[in-house]
Formats: sequence, C-alpha cells, structure tokens
Amino acid sequence: MSDSLTCVSTPALADLPIRRLTHRDLHACADLSEDRGWPREEHKWGLLLAAGKGYGIDDPEGGLVTACVVTGYGTGDRPDLCAIGMVLVAERHARQGVGRRLMRHVVAEAGTTPLTLYATPYGRPLYEELGFKVTGTSEMVRGHFRAGGPCSAVATRPATGEDLSTLVRLDEEVFGADRTHLITRLPAFADQLRVAEEGGRITGYAALWPNMDTHVVGPLVARDTETTKALVASLAAHTDRPLRTDVDVRHEALLTWLKEHGLTSVGFNAVMTYGTPDLPGDWTRRFAPLTVAAG
Ligand SMILES: CC(C)(COP(=O)(O)OP(=O)(O)OC[C@H]1O[C@@H](n2cnc3c(N)ncnc32)[C@H](O)[C@@H]1OP(=O)(O)O)[C@@H](O)C(=O)NCCC(=O)NCCS
Repeated sequence: MSDSLTCVSTPALADLPIRRLTHRDLHACADLSEDRGWPREEHKWGLLLAAGKGYGIDDPEGGLVTACVVTGYGTGDRPDLCAIGMVLVAERHARQGVGRRLMRHVVAEAGTTPLTLYATPYGRPLYEELGFKVTGTSEMVRGHFRAGGPCSAVATRPATGEDLSTLVRLDEEVFGADRTHLITRLPAFADQLRVAEEGGRITGYAALWPNMDTHVVGPLVARDTETTKALVASLAAHTDRPLRTDVDVRHEALLTWLKEHGLTSVGFNAVMTYGTPDLPGDWTRRFAPLTVAAG
C-alpha cells in the first residue's frame, strides 16, 4: 500500500476571496495598521467597522492581507455618498496588485453612488488610475494647544441629549448627506461634544475623540471661523493631550490661528471624488472631518 501524498499549495494572492469584515476583525485591522507603520487606532477602527462596511482578504498565514472601510451616507435604499478609508495592504504583499483589486471591488459594489476619500501620497496614483479626481486638499495639524489672545465672544457649552436631533440636521445641511448613524454615535465615541450657541440657536458643533496619544478635533462644523475658534479653545481647555485635526486648506484663517496657538503642520491629504465633480454640502461651514477615513 503506498502513501498518498497530499500537496497543499498556497493559493495565489489573486485567488484569495474578498470578504466583509466585522467587529471581530478589529484586532487584525489594528495589526494591519501597525504593519504599515500607522498607529493601531483601535477606537477609530471600532467606530468605522460599526458605522461602515469593512472589506478585507484573509492571509492564509494569519492576519489580513488587506482591509478598507466604506461608510455610506443618506437615507434612501442606496447611499447618496460613500466615503472610503483605511485602505491598507500588508507590507509583505505590497505592490502585487492587491490594493488595485480591493479598490476595484468596492468601486463596483458602490454602483452609481458617488465616492470620496482622502488620499495619502501612496494611495493617490492608484485612485487616479481608477478614475478618482482631486477636488481639494486638507492639512493635518498637530500639537499642544496654547490658550491665549482675545477671549471669544462666542458662547459654547457641552451638547446634551436634546441637542442631538439639531446636530443631525445641521450636519446634514453642511455635509450634504444624512449621517445620523455616525452623529448619534458621537456621544459614546467622543470624550467631548460641544456646541456653539447664539440667541438660543446652535451655530456650530465639534467633537474631541481619543486617538492613541492625541485627541482629534472633528467633526468641526460652524457658521464662521470665530465660532470654530471658540469651539476648539473650549475643547482644548479640558485635555492635556496634543490636539490633531485635518482642516480644509480653504479655511486659511483657522489654520493660521491653530498654528499661532501651538499646532504645526504634519502633512497634506488630497480630497478625491469619483462619480461626482465635487462634494455636496456647504464647505464654508465644514472645517474638519470626523476622520479622514469617513469624511
Ligand atoms: C497604497 C496601498 C494600499 C497600495 O496597495 P498595493 O497593493 O501595494 O498597490 P498595487 O500593487 O495594487 O498598486 C497599484 C498602483 O498603485 C501605485 N503604487 C502602489 N504603491 C506605490 C508606491 N509605493 N509608490 C508609488 N506608487 C505606488 C502604482 O501606480 C501601482 O501600480 P503599478 O504597481 O502597476 O505601478 C499600499 O501601498 C498601502 O497600504 N500603503 C500604506 C497605507 C496607505 O497609504 N494607504 C492609502 C490610504 S489613502
């Protein structure tokens, strides 16, 4: 009797199936971030995997080959807009077409829904090849906020449960699509959620959420720059951590003020869209996203 030989071959990368990720994949996603030299950002991954749809490929050797998250916005059967974020391919599998395949998959899944993302210089050539166009730029700034200068006349206060429906409406006006599933998660996700108020009307709001050793300011939505200054200063008054935020470069006055108060430039991301010439909503009141991974 001869022994039969079982030959186990490793499947080619191109044959590994793309599957939906769930909250159970949180640690594998954080491992992938770490593999690419990004912070683990488990708190952020947790939000994105809950509010959005994760896609990934399992590595037969363990862990993930690749991952990304697509967050849909709008109230209809199909989203009005999808934001793509956290596009990552493990270093050991880089430059072998995995990122292209994953992106083609999510673009095809989105059908006719317009897409947006913030591209790092690494990702940008791939997105351009797929037809994404640059429509704007955001600047990432980081540092310990130094209070000082004239006291703002704009009043701010912590948001309460009763404010939430107003924030959802204000956010929809400014973002251009309904984000109820994200905004209603902010009280649990963020360490602080504050509103600016004038004459009993909410004129802006901002969240401060923990990310590794920093506190991220975002979303930052306000009627004008003076209101953003009051919101940022009031958030900063209750944290010792460095702040980080990603400001649309068209909001020069805010960027200048943040730099005067101790934050420095870390880099730029290109805002890209697919299937629409520009983002909906009102950019003049949209100062910083919740995260570049979700818009
Ligand atoms: C960006 C990233 C996802 C690309 O994944 P990938 O599987 O390595 O990319 P692919 O092999 O599918 O390459 C697709 C195209 O992207 C471009 N590209 C990918 N990596 C590149 C690099 N290091 N330098 C320049 N161009 C690059 C090339 O145009 C490439 O096509 P080519 O290989 O035929 O020339 C991956 O490099 C990564 O995880 N980087 C770190 C995290 C990051 O920056 N993510 C993007 C967030 S927006």
